[in-house]
Amino acid sequence: MSDDLSAAARAYSNIAFIKYWGNADDALRLPASGSLSMNLAGLHTTTVLRWSEDLIGDSLTINDQIAQPHALRRTSAHLDVMRERLGIRHRAEIRSSNNFPMGTGIASSASAFAALTLAATAALGVELSQRELSALARRGSGSAARSIPPGFVEWFTGASHDSSYAETIAGPDHWDLVDVVAVVSREHKRVDSTAGHATAASSVLQSARLQTVEDRLRMAKGAILRRNFEQLAAVVEEDSNLMHAIMMTSRPALFYWQPASLAIMQAVRRWRERDGLEVCYTLDAGPNVHCICASSDAQVVKSRLKAIDGVNDVLYSEAGPGAHLIADE
Ligand code: PMV
Repeated sequence: MSDDLSAAARAYSNIAFIKYWGNADDALRLPASGSLSMNLAGLHTTTVLRWSEDLIGDSLTINDQIAQPHALRRTSAHLDVMRERLGIRHRAEIRSSNNFPMGTGIASSASAFAALTLAATAALGVELSQRELSALARRGSGSAARSIPPGFVEWFTGASHDSSYAETIAGPDHWDLVDVVAVVSREHKRVDSTAGHATAASSVLQSARLQTVEDRLRMAKGAILRRNFEQLAAVVEEDSNLMHAIMMTSRPALFYWQPASLAIMQAVRRWRERDGLEVCYTLDAGPNVHCICASSDAQVVKSRLKAIDGVNDVLYSEAGPGAHLIADE
């Protein structure tokens, strides 16, 4: 082992076309269903991690600021999983930074835990398969499993830690889709997704969604492989609507949409159905609207979004690579 047990890794956020909402096993973060996503080249986390036997505890900075206690606790819990897998007792010093504006309500847990998982293994000189990295990243944040492989990615439900991982179905160059994110609110989520997953089963709609989600996943996968935008749009919007219907009917009820979110969703449908633009919407556990569109329509979508009341900012992202190591910065 060399003395310098450090490494730097970068991972990209992803947007789910078919959503992950609810766990079959909360502790292992085994999802209640499979999901499908696209990595986002424009939104990434860079993490430098150093293991040392001399540290008395883990430490974390995010964008050069000491992280909040809850963020450090969640990171340490994931490092415990990594320490067990790697057979070490070292503590870690972590410097993490996001290239996307903090506090835009854009989730960073997927890119953060994917980058952390890769950096933690590489710092020790351990090279794990993409499959194992994906399963391990899942333990930090479910959607992080999908930020390990490149491009368009499917996460298999799995029935055990080892069998619940994500894999590329098509590389980032397969289809020039773009995610134009309409940022509606900069507020932090009041209910984070970990707590949200735990409420999913309390909605009477969850079982209905789970009965049909594999069909939607197959349709979305087929639409991606054939590059059929119309088919993809229909199933992506339906799946987002279904997940939010579950959120709204859970106990307690979770309402992530704001009036501007709905205005954008309606506008996007109009632009597609009336104006023929290749664009559709999907929302995660927040009010921001991800507008998935053909790159040829991205500029017009961007300028139309900016003109809608309540849109504070617009972010742009093409399909992205998988997690990778970088030279220490
Ligand atoms: O990975 P988590 O626990 O942040 O959950 C992500 C949940 C959604 O973003 C709402 C859906 C998804 O599949 O990404």
